[in-house]
Amino acid sequence: MKREQWASRTGFILAAVGSAIGLGNIWRFPYMAYENGGGAFLIPYFVAMLTAGIPFMIMEFGLGHKMRGSAPKVFARLSPPTEVLGWFQVFIAAVIACYYVVIIGWGMSYFGLSVSQGWGADANAFFFGEYLRLGDHSPTSLGSLQWHIVVPLLLAWCVTFFAVFTGVRGGIERLGKVMIPVLFIMVVLFTLRVLTLPGAVDGLNWMFQPDFSKLSDPKVWSAAYGQIFFTLSVGFAIMLAYSSYLPEKSDINNNAFMTVFINCGFSLLAGVMIFSVLGYMAAQQGVGITEVVSAGVGLAFVTIPTAINMLPMPWLLGPVFFAALVVAGLSSHISIVEAVTSSVMDKLGWSRKKAASVMCGMGALISLVFATNGGLLLLDLVDYFMNNVALLGSCLIELVLVCWVFRKLPELQGHINGISEFTVGSWWTFCLRFMSVGILLVIVATNLFTAV
Ligand code: PHE
Ligand code: NA
Repeated sequence: MKREQWASRTGFILAAVGSAIGLGNIWRFPYMAYENGGGAFLIPYFVAMLTAGIPFMIMEFGLGHKMRGSAPKVFARLSPPTEVLGWFQVFIAAVIACYYVVIIGWGMSYFGLSVSQGWGADANAFFFGEYLRLGDHSPTSLGSLQWHIVVPLLLAWCVTFFAVFTGVRGGIERLGKVMIPVLFIMVVLFTLRVLTLPGAVDGLNWMFQPDFSKLSDPKVWSAAYGQIFFTLSVGFAIMLAYSSYLPEKSDINNNAFMTVFINCGFSLLAGVMIFSVLGYMAAQQGVGITEVVSAGVGLAFVTIPTAINMLPMPWLLGPVFFAALVVAGLSSHISIVEAVTSSVMDKLGWSRKKAASVMCGMGALISLVFATNGGLLLLDLVDYFMNNVALLGSCLIELVLVCWVFRKLPELQGHINGISEFTVGSWWTFCLRFMSVGILLVIVATNLFTAV
């Protein structure tokens, strides 16, 4: 059977950008920058982007395009035993798919609540108490299924299922072409409004105030590289699958640059958005930014709702924020599920419809464990391990195999340079072989060491 193909280059880039732009851009990047030297963090961040992010993206696009297959197939073609790395990546993707969708489900609930600030005056008590019902949880059990979480959760699965079931062109590409422009418009409008609020400028000063002394701290550099790998969805089997649907004549290098630049640009925009809100909130409460700043679920489901209570036009800005969160999340979720589905299709020869139905059905069932009272604790645990150990570990193994064990870079370089408008030279191989491998070794070792 002929492999499916993207209908247009824009369609491919929007799908790849949709995967890259996710919760990580909205709630991880702003906090990372604030914590790790503010404006000065942008230096390691851009260095990481240029020396690891772009080279890695070019490599994954090139591998997927050349080998025409999902992760297990790509690695099996390098050498049969390494197929197992492909399945390891698919496994990571499958696990992430099962909890990432839960956060999208919360976002959907909050979209509904935000119309009339249904979380009330105490957003913290509402989220952990009334919404998650964490209090009813005993350490020895997960507690019971929370139907008010199950419903939006399944709704999110339906959207993903629709996209993956209808295929690369009909579903994923078509949805991406709507979702990503809409996402940008929403975030730009939201940012323009909050930027002019009193205190917003202070928020931006807090975030971007450069602390150059941080540049000599290795932890800051490791944070920057970690953020780049996470934010670009590389090493997850995702970009391999997406690029395997590229037509024969595709500008790999240019596509990779565009995807990375758009993603990192969006992160900066999200940083401005979040810190304008935090600055305004701090000003309203007459406190410093340290009192209001937070990351992760706390930012999206406690801090932002509290801020929305104080914002002008909360009935409009609230839904816009949560709609953006949901759209950013869904486009990433679609890409993770597609990575799993395409691997199963390649391996078992299943039709897309069958593979999508079985994978989404199983995924939806498994994700129910996160819709219990103990769900958040479990989610935190799994997420920590995935981000800090599994994902970076799999990036490292992939690099070592491609660059050192099978020495595929020269061949790959010839392949991509043959079809790309501008070519990559020895900086590309150098960044992958030495910079990225070295830095990943340090980060993975440190994370493993601090985790045990
Ligand atoms: N790149 C995504 C982000 O920044 C992360 C992600 C993508 C996570 C796909 C899981 C799956 O949020
Ligand atoms: Na991202």
